[in-house]
Amino acid sequence: MFGVWVIKEALVAILELKGLGKNFGKNVAVNEIEMSVEEGEIRGLIGPNGSGKTTLFNLISGFLKPTRGMIIWQGQEITGLPPHVVTRLGLVRTFQLTALFSEMTVMQNVVISCHLHTGTTLWQQFRHSAETRRKERETEEKALNLLESMGIADRKDEIAAELPHGHQAALGIANALATGPKMILLDEPVGGMNPTETSETMDRIKMLRDRGITVLLVEHDMRAVMTTCDKITCINFGNKIAEGAPQMVCNHREVVEAYLGEEMACSL
Ligand SMILES: Nc1ncnc2c1ncn2[C@@H]1O[C@H](COP(=O)(O)OP(=O)(O)O)[C@@H](O)[C@H]1O
Ligand SMILES: [Mg+2]
Repeated sequence: MFGVWVIKEALVAILELKGLGKNFGKNVAVNEIEMSVEEGEIRGLIGPNGSGKTTLFNLISGFLKPTRGMIIWQGQEITGLPPHVVTRLGLVRTFQLTALFSEMTVMQNVVISCHLHTGTTLWQQFRHSAETRRKERETEEKALNLLESMGIADRKDEIAAELPHGHQAALGIANALATGPKMILLDEPVGGMNPTETSETMDRIKMLRDRGITVLLVEHDMRAVMTTCDKITCINFGNKIAEGAPQMVCNHREVVEAYLGEEMACSL
């Protein structure tokens, strides 16, 4: 019985971190994190400012090289691979600063992100112009679909930097989706949003899961985290201090002491 359970666990983990750590000089930003994310779940990553959440994202997505430990993606080690390779493997992150190409239109942003995925170069565009025009139309259709699914298709001709905050976040997610990910890492997707924008964004994140995309989410809005995540991991000073169902983590003594505080914990 126990053996069967172990095999099932091994099959469903899409991302595993084994003893993952990062030092900046003498500062241990992330310290030997063990973590396993199941395919199709929305995992919340919480913890106080400076606890290592963004560093962990940068390690997983290849923007930083770990000091120690391993990153296993769909059963294969990807430790130390550069970001564009990690993206091609289906693991992509968004940034706290959302719009990638702030001076371009919303549509141009997603079209470029689609090209980053397909790897079409300008030279190829000159060589096969008829074929490329057909592909270009397909890409625009795909980009428009992505904008529709994020609820911002009516903003397609606006300059990205001029969008309201909530729509910039939606564009950040659309850009990430354009790369065809299996898993998406979202860094504070509702930071600075009003309650309506927050609940719309969280609904879109749930929609990603419904499409089969696994989500790892860093967010300080605890109500949003509690109502969206299947499971939560809490870190403090680069160490994992609790992991499990949202209600369990929010009642965890160390999580309350290090991060939530009594008042917040009781109100959740
Ligand atoms: N590029 C960097 N160089 C030096 N120290 C860094 C760098 N990035 C993060 N740190 C340090 O690592 C720790 C974790 O930071 P960070 O991952 O940004 O935390 P969080 O996202 O949880 O707020 C902090 O002490 C921070 O000062
Ligand atoms: Mg951060």
